[in-house]
Amino acid sequence: MSNKALGILISGRGSNMEAIIKASQANQINATVAVVISDKRDAKGIKIAKELGITTFVLDIKDFSTKQEYEDDICRILKGCSVDLVCLAGYMKIVGQTILESFKNRVINIHPSLLPAFRGLNAQKQALDYGVKFAGCSVHYVNDVLDGGPLILQDIVEVSGDDTEETLSQKILAKEHLIYPQAIQIVLESLSVK
Ligand code: GAR
Repeated sequence: MSNKALGILISGRGSNMEAIIKASQANQINATVAVVISDKRDAKGIKIAKELGITTFVLDIKDFSTKQEYEDDICRILKGCSVDLVCLAGYMKIVGQTILESFKNRVINIHPSLLPAFRGLNAQKQALDYGVKFAGCSVHYVNDVLDGGPLILQDIVEVSGDDTEETLSQKILAKEHLIYPQAIQIVLESLSVK
């Protein structure tokens, strides 16, 4: 299978992005991270990506008159880097039709819950508040339903009585870092047989 190009969209810490870049640099996946784009200037992930030698861009939606123009610019960058697959990694904006139509079935996301449970923000807190005994994370295709696209991979963690939002988030995050690169490899293999 030939090497594919990934574009990663982030908004913050970038630990999933880092896991993907490191999996790529260790040849654990047949992919190179071509570009990282952040919608936040102060995203910690941008610094990490730069240190790992990745091309980065920051696009602030406030600098555009419409969301479509903002997403057009993202697509221009992704296409300019010949990106095959777009990976959302803690990207906290809803992806609009401009990106979804330009990269049909080629946008994936990681979410810190066992979807379809606990969509949206603060999924780990939602899980704790509900009192679930098992939580987890999901990698899924992105469509126009929030956190509602077809699932690619999931993993679980056990919730203990003394878990807080922070401890549960950390347990889930450790699993996220394992399954996101695996899910990318699965998607890339399906692209190469099409
Ligand atoms: C991760 O836990 C990710 O699953 C979550 O944000 C965190 C980003 O961390 N994403 C969502 O909640 C999307 N709905 P990271 O920046 O360190 O990868």
